[in-house]
Amino acid sequence: MPETAARAWTRKDLLGLEELSRAEIEHVLDTATGFKEISTRSIKKAPALRGKVVLNLFFEPSTRTKTSFSLAAQRLSADIVDIVKEASSAVKGESLVDTGRNLEAMGVDIVIIRHQQAGAPALLARSLDACVVNAGDGTHEHPTQGLLDIFTMREKLGDLTGRKIALVGDITHSRVARSNIWGLRSLGAEVGLIGPKTLIPGAFKELGVNIHHNLDEVLDHYDVFNILRIQMERQNKGLFPSVREYHYLYGIDSKRLSRMKSGVVIMHPGPINRGIEISHEVADGENSVILRQVSNGLAVRMAVLMLVQSARESHGG
Ligand code: CP
Repeated sequence: MPETAARAWTRKDLLGLEELSRAEIEHVLDTATGFKEISTRSIKKAPALRGKVVLNLFFEPSTRTKTSFSLAAQRLSADIVDIVKEASSAVKGESLVDTGRNLEAMGVDIVIIRHQQAGAPALLARSLDACVVNAGDGTHEHPTQGLLDIFTMREKLGDLTGRKIALVGDITHSRVARSNIWGLRSLGAEVGLIGPKTLIPGAFKELGVNIHHNLDEVLDHYDVFNILRIQMERQNKGLFPSVREYHYLYGIDSKRLSRMKSGVVIMHPGPINRGIEISHEVADGENSVILRQVSNGLAVRMAVLMLVQSARESHGG
């Protein structure tokens, strides 16, 4: 493993971006830049995790994150095991900590966990010697999504100090929003939250962000619009009158894109609801980096896996 990488990162777990310093975030991003080069090779493999076992423990559905972690682990030459809730003994009542301890007893080195409960990865991290990486916990954080979003912004814009980044939509329920806010504020970016009052708790103001309820008034202010998924599963809670009205007030379409800065960066963590929070033309248009985010996720997750394992080994784990 690269010596410099091992020295600058000392955490065996990645639980959120709230607790990371600017230097730590930049170190992950710089490490990921090195790993991106591997993806361009005909043989996309590095030996950093040879002989290690990575476990994907997913209690909620995922397409991008789970596949991305699997590929990242494989590219680092680790063995990878997948467990989903429905096919595990969790359905028979086994506790999360017992599940983790049993898997650790089989030699698992790194547990990637997605869980519906905020704090589940932290609980597991306290209970295991293995590394724990949060792949999304309730509405709390999704740190690797935040890191890959920031990595993609930095690729497009360079240093993010003073850059203006908007997060649009359902902030209340979004772990992606929280990770973006913590990470971007640490890097000195100006962050704006845009959406209806019911989807942006006033308490977010304390995080040093701007809050806007009228999207059309701020279209030409921001350098990046990171558009969040409207969580259709929460629609029975009446958080906005209708999907049609949401699209009318907050949907990013060609007309609104034409009023943004030239070169504005359009992002979305996925999965997207086409025609609701974003139109087809914008999602697939030249300002969109949505698929680049997904590609970058692989390099970011390779960096995270290598850094946590390296820190664990340097602590004697
Ligand atoms: N962005 C994201 O977390 O997507 P998945 O739910 O498909 O992993």
